[in-house]
Order: sequence, then structure tokens, then C-alpha cells
Amino acid sequence: MKEIAVIFGGKSVEHDVSTITAHIPIIEALLASNKCDVWPVYIAKDGSWYSNKKMNALAYFKQPDFEEQLAREKKVGLSFDKGLSLVWPGIIPKTVRIDVVFPSMHGTFGEDGSLMGLLRMAGVPYVGCDMASSAVAMDKVFTKQVLTQEGIPVTPFVWFTKKEWSDEQAGLLEKISKLHWPVFVKPAHLGSSIGITKVKNESELENAIEVALHYDDKVLVEESVENLIEVTLPIMGNDTLRLAEVERPLNKTELFDFTEKYMSGGKKGGGANSAYSQIPAEIGDELTATVKELGKETYRVLGCSGIARVDFLIDSKANKIYVNEVNTLPGSLYHHNWKKAGVSSMELVLGLVSLAEERFKEQEGLTHTFRSDILDKIGGPKISK
Ligand SMILES: Nc1ncnc2c1ncn2[C@@H]1O[C@H](COP(=O)(O)OP(=O)(O)O)[C@@H](O)[C@H]1O
Ligand SMILES: [Mg+2]
Repeated sequence: MKEIAVIFGGKSVEHDVSTITAHIPIIEALLASNKCDVWPVYIAKDGSWYSNKKMNALAYFKQPDFEEQLAREKKVGLSFDKGLSLVWPGIIPKTVRIDVVFPSMHGTFGEDGSLMGLLRMAGVPYVGCDMASSAVAMDKVFTKQVLTQEGIPVTPFVWFTKKEWSDEQAGLLEKISKLHWPVFVKPAHLGSSIGITKVKNESELENAIEVALHYDDKVLVEESVENLIEVTLPIMGNDTLRLAEVERPLNKTELFDFTEKYMSGGKKGGGANSAYSQIPAEIGDELTATVKELGKETYRVLGCSGIARVDFLIDSKANKIYVNEVNTLPGSLYHHNWKKAGVSSMELVLGLVSLAEERFKEQEGLTHTFRSDILDKIGGPKISK
């Protein structure tokens, strides 16, 4: 049996969504496979880490007295020693060595590369995108800069920091006025449509920027795509890529807000799902083919591995496609879409575990040390024996 730790929760506004993804489908499918021993590792909102097998049931998190139950739990520690172990302190501490980590965190400290950096340092295989690709994908400005450099179409944009906004407002307003309006104002790092405003005229602009700056110290202003059709494409793989179906969410209003994204779909079972989406999207063969090509290219350029989902904005009149953003941990892994593409949840999660192990092996093959005599050459007294 492989010992797999599924890490979820975390200090992020997407804490609860992360808990859902961890259970549906990750823990459910790993347990059903009978191939793994699953350790649910839950990071509470205050940053404490817990692990108890009863947390393998989503019901644990829905108990009315959940907070009190959690307060009675022992915290779990992590030990790094050429790999990762979970350690429960006590007179005789209990230790479990983990073979693969399955991060299930959305948003800050989880999907932004922080956790991946920690796991890389620990020397344990982990599922999904690595530190660098996660960090770039989490920053909407970095994403656009990297994609632009590689010739992948994104909407024209202006970006600035909080400090620049307070120091050079007039210059920035001038730059923004040169964009084609309406524009979207977004915090650079948040997801779930939080802090995003569509602005139709200059009188609304400053207020929208203040709203975005309330959440982030980096702001993006970009041209709006009109006659909008949104589609998304889940992709998995390291070097050889497998595509799910191009999906068109149908429950979108002009701005897809948090409640809509998670709650309306949630009533029918876990986030955006097939009942609210067209899978495959009926956008014609030509657009579908372009979306797939751009999706693969975006995945490659950002250095994604394991799994990611690329979101597109299409101007349906002009037939123009733009890459909007990349999610390195798609909510619930978009298992509803993978199912339509012929990949069961079990195949999906086990496939991702294999990809994690493959990538780890490849990286182990790289040389990370370099013998040098620089220490001997450096001046200064030697310790005499
Ligand atoms: N440039 C744009 N043109 C048209 N609609 C946009 C644009 N940018 C964002 N939107 C709308 O706002 C939603 C949220 O923006 P997005 O950049 O995807 O942020 P989030 O990270 O919150 O998902 C998109 O799904 C889309 O409906
Ligand atoms: Mg989005």
C-alpha cells in the first residue's frame, strides 16, 4: 500500500472549496482504489495542521460542533529527512512515512507554489504543478507577461503596484485610458472573482482600483472581451499531454461570482458541473481545435505538470481567442469533465499519483551537487589539529 497524504484547507478564502476537492474526488477515489492508505492532512484556518483518518469523511467537516471536535485533536508535525513523515507527538510518537503527497489547496499558500516549494525541499513526490509554474499561474500579471513573450494571445493590459498607484496616478490613468474600453480591474493574485470589477467609464475606474487594492498590492487592468463565450480545458500530463473536453460553463452572468461559481453548481453536487456546462462546448471544430492547441502551448510555456486547467475568453463575433488564466488545481479536479472524456475519477487520481512519481524520478536523476575546492582556496586561518 502506498502512503498518500492529501493536504487541504489552509489559510485562504478558498479553504472550504479545498476541503471539497480533497474529498470529492481525491480521497474518495484513492480509498476506492484499495491501492493506498490515505492520510488526510487538514490545515485549519488558524494555520494548525491535523491528521486523523476520521477526516477522510467529508461529514467530519460538516458537524455542527466541528470547531470543538477539532480543538480536541492532536496536532500533527512534519518531519523532513530525505522524504516526508507525519509525526504525532506523545510519549511514544507515532510516525508515518509518506510516499506521495496530493496537494488539494486552492488559493494562497497552497496553489501559489508555497506548498510545492516545501514539498520539493522535503524531497517527497507530490501531485500537480511545481513551485515555479504554480507561482506564475497564481499571478495574473506574470501569466500574461510570460504568455505574451511566447506569442500566446492575451487581452491588452496595464499593471501597477499599490505604491505606483499612489505615486504616479495621473500617468497610470493616462495609460489605462489608451486601452480599448470597457476594461476589467482585477487584483493580481485572487481567484473566485473576488475584487474584480467591469468598468464602463472613467468615473468608475478609481473606485474599482481602490476595491482591487483592498485585496492585493498589485492590480491588473485589461481590455474586456465582448460578445463573450468562455470555455475551459482541463489538461493532464508531464511531457505527453492528455486533454479533457473543451467545456463551456452555461450558468455565467456578465461576471461569474463566487456564489454562482461554487454554490449554484454545488446544489447538484460539488462546484461547477456538467448540469451547468456544455461538454463538449458547441463552438465549432475550428475554434475547438485552436483552443486545444493554445491550451497545450500554454501548459508547456508555463511549465505545468500533473494537471491544470486553461481558461479562455472568446469574442464570438470577431472569432478571437484569448487565454485568460491557468488554474493549477482545478476545483474537484474537474472530474465531471474527465468522466465525459472517458477518464474515471479513480484513473484520474491514480494517474496523477503516477505522474508525480515519474517527475520525481526524473528530477532525482539530475545532478544537484557540484564538487569544488573553493572552500580550500578561500583565505583565512585553518583550524589547527
Ligand atoms: N477581459 C475580460 N473580458 C471579459 N470578461 C472577463 C474578462 N476578464 C474576466 N472576465 C470575467 O470575469 C470572470 C472572472 O475573471 P477571472 O480573470 O477569471 O478571475 P478569477 O481568478 O476570479 O476566476 C471571468 O470568468 C469572466 O467571466
Ligand atoms: Mg477565472
